Amino acid sequence: MINLTLSSSFTRKHPRIFVFQIVFPMFVLCLSYDIIPLRLVMLMVQEKINKELEINIEQARLSDIPGIAALFTESFDESVRHHCGGILPRPQAMQDVFTLVYQAEPQAALVARTLSGKIVGYCFAPTQLTNLWFRAIWSGQLIKWAWRWLTGKYGFGLHPVKVIVMNKIAFLSSAVTPTQKANARILSIAVAAESRGQGVAGRLLGKAIEYFSFRKAKLVRLEVRPNNAVAIALYKKWNFVLTGYTQDSQGKWLIMYKEMERHDV
Ligand SMILES: CC(C)(COP(=O)(O)OP(=O)(O)OC[C@H]1O[C@@H](n2cnc3c(N)ncnc32)[C@H](O)[C@@H]1OP(=O)(O)O)[C@@H](O)C(=O)NCCC(=O)NCCS
Repeated sequence: MINLTLSSSFTRKHPRIFVFQIVFPMFVLCLSYDIIPLRLVMLMVQEKINKELEINIEQARLSDIPGIAALFTESFDESVRHHCGGILPRPQAMQDVFTLVYQAEPQAALVARTLSGKIVGYCFAPTQLTNLWFRAIWSGQLIKWAWRWLTGKYGFGLHPVKVIVMNKIAFLSSAVTPTQKANARILSIAVAAESRGQGVAGRLLGKAIEYFSFRKAKLVRLEVRPNNAVAIALYKKWNFVLTGYTQDSQGKWLIMYKEMERHDV
């Protein structure tokens, strides 16, 4: 009893000494005499590592929007700042935009998620984008956005409106696109910096193409900056071909199309 009282007050007063001089040596002793099988410990460690490394591609949930918006903001930092007059907007701004896109077609929103639940990639692959503004108006989103903007929830002034108008003008005066109309789009795709180069974007794109097949889409369109060599290589690998270009206030865009093949459809 006295011993127990002594040891518990000792561990409270000297937790480091307790762990490094008592618990750790005992653990090593147990391992060396195979009281705790080494294989079991290694399996437990491996499982913990796998939880972080194993990534599933699945349909996004509404609760994923803050994670997606954060990943978008860090992946397209320069572009976001350009639209917001050199600053990053409050998270609410991007979350509202992505909520609108998500609610228009939830099946078109894909995420790459680790087993521990962290979002390390996303892809928006809609097949019905044309009514987005109409949807924003009739669902009351536009009024909600206006109110949030006026009450300073977005953290920016009039700059984005100016950029959007400038972009529209630049786009209309510069677009050189094929006459065929695409009925599917890769609207946005990004992978967290620490998970790049492991095939995550390839898997997201594969799942998006599967979805386009399911929706019987014939032609898929996307836009990419000419200096984004990694993304261009990724799209070429999935048989997207360069078919035109356009421009916005930030510079040139390449337009790429993919014709869904018979085995895709
Ligand atoms: C573009 C992006 C989505 C690629 O994601 P990723 O998960 O690293 O890509 P993957 O590992 O699936 O690679 C797929 C293909 O891309 C190309 N690629 C990937 N990394 C590359 C690199 N460092 N250099 C050249 N090509 C590369 C290769 O063709 C690769 O296929 P392979 O591995 O069979 O050769 C990612 O870099 C990103 O999020 N960038 C910032 C956001 C962005 O630019 N999005 C695209 C906007 S259009």
